[in-house]
Amino acid sequence: MKSQILGTGSYVPPKILTNTDLEKIVDTSDTWIVDRTGIHERRIAEPGEACSDLGIRASESALANAGIAAQDLDMILVATCTGDYPLPSTACLIQHRLGATRAAACDIAAACCGFVYALSIANAYIKAGYRYVLVVGAEVMSAITDWSDRNTCVLFGDGAGATVVGRSEGEAGILSLHLHADGRLADLICVPGGGSSRPASQTILDERLPYVKMRGNETFKIAVKTMEEAVREALAANELTINDIDCFVPHQANIRILKAVAERLKLPLEKTAINLDRFGNTSAASIPLALDEAVKTGKVQPGNLVLLAAFGSGLTWASGVLRW
Ligand code: COA
Repeated sequence: MKSQILGTGSYVPPKILTNTDLEKIVDTSDTWIVDRTGIHERRIAEPGEACSDLGIRASESALANAGIAAQDLDMILVATCTGDYPLPSTACLIQHRLGATRAAACDIAAACCGFVYALSIANAYIKAGYRYVLVVGAEVMSAITDWSDRNTCVLFGDGAGATVVGRSEGEAGILSLHLHADGRLADLICVPGGGSSRPASQTILDERLPYVKMRGNETFKIAVKTMEEAVREALAANELTINDIDCFVPHQANIRILKAVAERLKLPLEKTAINLDRFGNTSAASIPLALDEAVKTGKVQPGNLVLLAAFGSGLTWASGVLRW
């Protein structure tokens, strides 16, 4: 028995932060940001608007799209690194607001790979007998962004995407999921303060440690290599070639990474779902956001083969192949 994505949904906050707006905050330029990243603008949550606020809207939309009632959910998984609180989980907050009283709920911490990791857990539970699992990727990256650091503040954005996963009745379904991690490179992208290693204090704040730090250039090279490897592994596992893929839905970190991966794989860039130009890097939300848009705009059609590939802090990387 296979599992299948039965419905998708997404939500981004209405407030737009353009590159020109960022020119007023740090020493940067629209030209640098567009040339080096492909990002033109990103969405930013209002003060007090938290991860669960974005996640609930994406979830409601996915449930409506799937035609599934919240009460029928067996489990809610929220992939995020910017949950409302260290505890309780954002998944529990969403469970309550949806009225999904039967559902177990927890968060998944695998940074930008979180959605694919959560999808693999949903897949396993559906195969084990659960009927419906809600998988959400939701982030308020603006809450962990150092707005005085031009190396990182131009990159990230806020948003949420959600999918309802259930049993497959036919050809459509999740064909494969592959997950990887290498903790030796944990310090490449990290938030060094605010956790149990260096708990919240005035010093931590003064040293700007509760914010994302990234060695961008090194990360870039590893991202290209591991995304390519992840795709080749997924294709081999399904005895497919890149020409069989109808739509590539990658994690959205940098247009130059996506172009380099597409070039190495000989995949036409037109087959890639891209949203980073409008949303920036939305971490765990980027794939479900891009997938929802690809489905709703007809870029993904019934019967199509959809390829997912993600890369992020940890390091983690992952891939998935879906028959839509
Ligand atoms: N505006 C203007 N200049 C900037 C800048 C900004 N916003 N940010 C950095 N620079 C400068 C740097 O200070 C550096 O200046 P220097 O040469 O005088 O020291 C120069 O631009 C080049 O910096 P570098 O880091 O080498 O740029 P880059 O080409 O690697 O691009 C990133 C930087 C972050 C866009 C790119 O490395 C990247 O996308 N990395 C991967 C991100 C990723 O995959 N994340 C995945 C995790 S989710």
